[in-house]
Amino acid sequence: MPDSAFRLRLHEAVSLYIYAMGYDPAITDGRLRAWANHRLEPKFTAVAAIQHQESVTPEEALLDTDCSLVGIAYCHQGRPEQWWHTQVRAGMAALQWPLADRRAVLSNYTELAEIHVHPDHQGAGIGEQMLRTLLAGRTEDHVLLSTPEVAHENNRAWSLYRRVGFTDVLRNFEFAGDSRPFAVLGAKLPLDSPPPTSSDTSR
Ligand SMILES: CC(C)(COP(=O)(O)OP(=O)(O)OC[C@H]1O[C@@H](n2cnc3c(N)ncnc32)[C@H](O)[C@@H]1OP(=O)(O)O)[C@@H](O)C(=O)NCCC(=O)NCCS
Repeated sequence: MPDSAFRLRLHEAVSLYIYAMGYDPAITDGRLRAWANHRLEPKFTAVAAIQHQESVTPEEALLDTDCSLVGIAYCHQGRPEQWWHTQVRAGMAALQWPLADRRAVLSNYTELAEIHVHPDHQGAGIGEQMLRTLLAGRTEDHVLLSTPEVAHENNRAWSLYRRVGFTDVLRNFEFAGDSRPFAVLGAKLPLDSPPPTSSDTSR
């Protein structure tokens, strides 16, 4: 989506993220600043899912704040100077990932920084559609993300990432200054196509 639309939807997007993640709204201002800065990262791309009537085009709906945002996702190119990159690189080194494998993953990747769907709209395929749309045009050869660890990988985020082919890079990893365990997951780009549905195969 254009930068102007991202800025227009920024507050709504951060509120959606805080609600979907179950975070304390007190973090809103800090996250607004962080998200606004992320859009300055190289090759930043965002997609939104907007609820609207059929008589309104998606482009019109994106710019009409009476049409609610129901999903937001964005990614950007990974760079060695980024804090997240240095954390992941150190984590891979600590696990003694072979240097060639570390380089293969970290030399040319996009970071899927955020993906969230409003809880009222989860489980209907919006997350997968946003993820595939976002990654379809990327020129990098890997995508990496971090997600909180949950018991038995039992939430929609894990289900989505596994379904589209993400595998483990780091598990139970603690980013500096945050004692919560995270997983870092990665996939090669382009992603594999989704399996055909019964309607694709029926005559
Ligand atoms: C993670 C998240 C973005 C996924 O978005 P989503 O729209 O719920 O994901 P999808 O609908 O594509 O997939 C989720 C489920 O819907 C099912 N589904 C996919 N397409 C479907 C369709 N057309 N009809 C019905 N169900 C469908 C999937 O099988 C999957 O099932 P399961 O997770 O219950 O096993 C969203 O759930 C979310 O915002 N979660 C809270 C915030 C979060 O965890 N963000 C990621 C942090 S790293």
